[in-house]
Amino acid sequence: MHNSPVPISDRLALFPDSTRVQQDALFIAGQDLGSLADRYGTPLYVYDRLTLEAAAADYQSALRKYYPAPSHITYAGKAFLCKAIAEWTQTHDLFVDCTGEGEIAIAVAGGVPPQNILVHGVNKSISDLQAAVQYAGTIVVDNTAELQRIHNLFPNPELRFPGLWFRLLPGVAVSTHHSHTQTGQYDSKFGMTREEIMQAVQMSKSVNLPVNGIHFHQGSNFRDPEPLIPAIDMALDLAKEISFRGEWHFCPGGGWSVAYHEDEVPNPSIESYVRGIAEAVIEGCHQRGLDLPHLHLEPGRSLIGRAGVAIYRVGAVKQRGDKTWWLVDGGMADNPRHALYGARYSCLTVAGPGRERNERVSIGGPYCESGDVLIEDLLMPKVEEGELVAIPVAGAYQLSMSSNYNGARRPEVLMLEAGRATSMIRRETTDDLLRRDLPLG
Ligand SMILES: Cc1ncc(COP(=O)(O)O)c(C=O)c1O
Repeated sequence: MHNSPVPISDRLALFPDSTRVQQDALFIAGQDLGSLADRYGTPLYVYDRLTLEAAAADYQSALRKYYPAPSHITYAGKAFLCKAIAEWTQTHDLFVDCTGEGEIAIAVAGGVPPQNILVHGVNKSISDLQAAVQYAGTIVVDNTAELQRIHNLFPNPELRFPGLWFRLLPGVAVSTHHSHTQTGQYDSKFGMTREEIMQAVQMSKSVNLPVNGIHFHQGSNFRDPEPLIPAIDMALDLAKEISFRGEWHFCPGGGWSVAYHEDEVPNPSIESYVRGIAEAVIEGCHQRGLDLPHLHLEPGRSLIGRAGVAIYRVGAVKQRGDKTWWLVDGGMADNPRHALYGARYSCLTVAGPGRERNERVSIGGPYCESGDVLIEDLLMPKVEEGELVAIPVAGAYQLSMSSNYNGARRPEVLMLEAGRATSMIRRETTDDLLRRDLPLG
């Protein structure tokens, strides 16, 4: 077996900006992850505020630099939403993309004002639409049946009726690591074809519904922006056909990638992504004689993914043939991404992170599924049972997709900033698990 040629800096580059190795252990925002794990228990999720602030600033400054008309960042709430994160979004005046009534309720509780709430969803229910009309500034309409439901529910749109955007299915997907994270391909369940959108435009005109934007989202976790160009062209052709004038809105979704593993470093540049989109929209509008729209970008993982770290404790080490298993105290219940679509991750030990890596390990969880795996085949140092490990880029689509499988109680979630840890979500208890259950009677 070879000793690791990989320097620790390769893996540290995946961790939040304020991560340091001090006293031979991992610290984030000046705090020792080992002490936090002892105090709050494991699995434990921590978010670094500095990294979040930096990502929001990167997006906003790139938009200011490359796009001369109004622009907005919409935080994709599906990546991870709780009251504290909703509150944080408003310190940057971000829009918040909410999928349905539940996320709308969290955004409202976190103080997001109606003009900054945008509602998504591929099959919005009546109660989703009622919540959207009450609390949101924008509904992104996914299909003509939904448009009909909106009209049936609100036959006489009031003045504060949210603006409606139509979601285009461009028929072009971005390249992602798994088909389950693609949404723009011709046979996707998301959005409307060009013909369906023109039908929806006629419908909304005939009943006076306020349509003022076009949206598409081709997939998540891509780093080649090329497929955005034909989709932008298609959306601008539609905008021309609809004859948007004056203030109108255009959103080419989110999905920009972050590096999850050291062989994906460096992180793709947010500035070049924003620049590419801005230039294509400016040029495309110019060619078609369109007014420049308000440009909206909708990042999730590239805004919050890198800010999060998941900390687990190793409970047992097993040797099975050539394979070494580390069994930790969390897994697919707090992070189903590997089980769902083979997501890859990296890892450092919390103590002695620079130890020689001389063993290929797979990291599995405590749940009764062979697919309950977080990491496969990663070079790590030898560990003792009871040691802590930290998995970076844990900020997006982990907790938001977490479950109570096998009675798992969801982890505590902390925000870390300059020597301060604030609990954003407390650890679930068995009482929480039982709260919704009723006796047969
Ligand atoms: C409509 C929409 N917008 C934005 C996003 C955010 O994607 P990402 O977190 O990859 O940036 C998603 C993710 O699924 C989405 O469905």
